[in-house]
Amino acid sequence: MAIKTEMLNGIAVVTIDNPPVNALSHGVRIALLDAVQSLDADANVAAIVVHGAGKLFVGGADITEFDRPVEQPGLPEVITAIERAHKPWIAAIHGVALGGGLELALGCHLRIAAPGTTLGLPEAGLGLIPGAGGTQRLPRLIGVEASIPIVTAQERVGVDKALKLGLIDRISTNELITDAVAFAHEAAGAPLPVPASQRAVIAPATEVWHDAEASTKRAAKGAAAQLLALGSLRFGIENGIEAGLANERAVFLKARASRESAALRYLFFAERAAPRPQDLRDIAPRPLRKIGVVGAGTMGVGITAALRNAHLPVVLVERDDASLARGFSNLEKIFGGAAAKGRLTQDEAQERMAGIEGGTDYRALADCDLVIEAVYEDLAVKQAAFAEIARVCRPDAILATNTSYTDPRQISEGIADTSRFVGMHFFSPAHVMKLLEIVPLPETKPDVLSTAFALARKLEKLPVRSGICDGFIGNRILRRYIAEAIALLADGVSISAIDAAMREFGFAMGPFEMQDMAGLDISYMRREAARANGQDIPEMPGDLLVRAGRKGQKTGGGWYDYAVGDRTPRPSDEALRVIAPMLGTPRDMNSREISARLVSTMADEGKSILSEGIASGPEQIDLVEVHGYGFPRWRGGPMFMASGLGKQND
Ligand code: 3HC
Repeated sequence: MAIKTEMLNGIAVVTIDNPPVNALSHGVRIALLDAVQSLDADANVAAIVVHGAGKLFVGGADITEFDRPVEQPGLPEVITAIERAHKPWIAAIHGVALGGGLELALGCHLRIAAPGTTLGLPEAGLGLIPGAGGTQRLPRLIGVEASIPIVTAQERVGVDKALKLGLIDRISTNELITDAVAFAHEAAGAPLPVPASQRAVIAPATEVWHDAEASTKRAAKGAAAQLLALGSLRFGIENGIEAGLANERAVFLKARASRESAALRYLFFAERAAPRPQDLRDIAPRPLRKIGVVGAGTMGVGITAALRNAHLPVVLVERDDASLARGFSNLEKIFGGAAAKGRLTQDEAQERMAGIEGGTDYRALADCDLVIEAVYEDLAVKQAAFAEIARVCRPDAILATNTSYTDPRQISEGIADTSRFVGMHFFSPAHVMKLLEIVPLPETKPDVLSTAFALARKLEKLPVRSGICDGFIGNRILRRYIAEAIALLADGVSISAIDAAMREFGFAMGPFEMQDMAGLDISYMRREAARANGQDIPEMPGDLLVRAGRKGQKTGGGWYDYAVGDRTPRPSDEALRVIAPMLGTPRDMNSREISARLVSTMADEGKSILSEGIASGPEQIDLVEVHGYGFPRWRGGPMFMASGLGKQND
């Protein structure tokens, strides 16, 4: 039974019980509509309380139904029936009321929420707009200006603010259902409150719409849904509730069938599946009581910060006191900065630091359950670090390397038992970036791998398993992408046209701007090292730039020139002179053609990665691109685009 109803002293308590998130699936909608009709007709019922079973009220419409035509009754019909009931309906909200869940609450006559509840309309994040009255009832309840960030930027509202705005009528102070039933008794004895849809609303000045449209467009970076949601809000204010509701539903149904929504729903499910791979579900992870980090450079510090944010005790080891002190000072900057921005209290920031034990003696790692090596990306340096780590650690301690390119089989060569070894490639800054590539060796024990995934979950990271190849999934595709951008230069397309095309596509920056920001010297040194090893690596424009002292932003120039203290890239005659032998005869190429060529190259590399078994599915590759490399989320990723998935919906 999707809903059940029980009587509490003249009040009908309707419980939506549809795990895991009480989504408003077809069965729930049928049952709710039935309940409205039968409870209205039941003389023993004075008022109705509706709430959710388990840990939350309602997580929204059922997203798994969105690949199929809508099955009647639709959610708008159910909510309108509640709003038109002759007895008061009281929403008793706990946990979250999101999307259709909040819309259901907006259709009720009154709302009471437990402390700690959040309310929101996250539809735009799924390429949708609220489709059951959210853009119409919300502004009539709390005003247009407060509604705009909820509808467009998916702002989540806590109970204190919700009460202030009038989004809820009460915060429960005792047990939610007891309070809601008491509220229902009060409501039963009073005139029926005016439903949200029938309340008066003040239209804002035209500039309010213009400003909102401009900022929403900027924030959307090419995605359509936020602007559609804002348009629906405005339409309803300018044309009245009936026309507003009809328009909202039409726009919702169109968005539901769009490629943008198909892409975002695909990522929604992929993101939820990734942290718990099917083959590891029954394999218990090992306990992690204390974690070692070796190396207090940028990566080691970021990893330590991530571990501390998850309240894990850390032992941080460096080779000398000065490097260790620098690492601690950078950690203090991270937590101090978070406190200055109000993300942590001063006490919390201090507690983060207090949980780090620093040292220059590897023996401090002796009782760690897992040690993450984060030293310089050089095979000999990493092997030397592991020689020390393996000497001092317990034989059952898990050993992890944070490598972005180097083969973990080589890194682990000197270790006796490599079944406890695993690659964990964090992305910089490691306390911010969600992506984590997990790279097992062929002999890595399943419970070691399961522990790596469990740690990722604890750190609230998005783990993606990668097989072993140069650069793993992400950096391997990055290398092909950059190589193709350079091939475009040889075809005569300009640096700035390529960068502009990728920005227009939705990346925050183009491939050349990105290299200037990261520094050209690291990949140059890798190529030089490979050449020294006898590999035949052709000369690249980046080699010429580095040899001319142009290593990127940090040297005032790379592909572009930079003024001191300014990161704005300026086209550089000097760079063009240096790389002139590698440039083709200038020609124009339109931005769509440029981005299509670069994205299809990424997908081609992705297909090789799949056929070699490096990634277990196309969605793993797309998660890497979206979360590690700035691929525009609303496009789903290169594999999604290449598959044509969602195209039939366009
Ligand atoms: N429909 C169907 N399944 C859903 C769902 C939904 N709305 N929301 C979550 N699920 C599923 C997840 O896929 C996951 O399934 P799995 O266990 O098989 O992987 C399971 O529920 C648990 O989800 P989470 O891991 O995300 O659970 P959390 O407890 O961390 O978070 C939540 C719960 C905050 C509700 C979160 O799931 C969430 O944000 N859900 C989406 C909310 C949303 O976008 N709602 C709007 C939907 S569109 C809509 O309502 C249209 C309307 O306007 C007409």
